[in-house]
Amino acid sequence: MNRKEFLKTCGFSYLAGITGVSLLESCSSSLAMSKEIVGSDILLPIADFEIKYNGKTKYKKYIIIQNELLKFPICVYRFDTENYTALLMECTHQGAELQVYGDKLQCSAHGSEFNNKGLVEDGPATTHLRNFPILIENNILKISLKK
Ligand code: FES
Repeated sequence: MNRKEFLKTCGFSYLAGITGVSLLESCSSSLAMSKEIVGSDILLPIADFEIKYNGKTKYKKYIIIQNELLKFPICVYRFDTENYTALLMECTHQGAELQVYGDKLQCSAHGSEFNNKGLVEDGPATTHLRNFPILIENNILKISLKK
């Protein structure tokens, strides 16, 4: 490989690396958010679900909330303007962290699967996910962490 070919290869690799990183960053920032806990509630503005594009507004299906005080993230699904679920992403089988795949939460440990309401769809888990109560006030979801 001559110098020109080497630089060309490195340049493409570098560009691919930068592009890959920014794509990952944009994906993660659109779905995972760090939110403050106020009292016993996590506050999530409804506007965080909005995606404005070409003058139109679309909505994210879900947002993953993280906070250093939470042992597991919480996945908040949006069904429409007034209906949401907030699910703890802890598998009820043996406590592994779940992954979100569209409308499903899946466990990579032993394959359990839950729907976007937290109901078990596939075992070995037999217990539904923890589902936090949500109150909507002034366009903010108040997700109650009280037991
Ligand atoms: S810990 Fe999730 S299926 Fe076993």
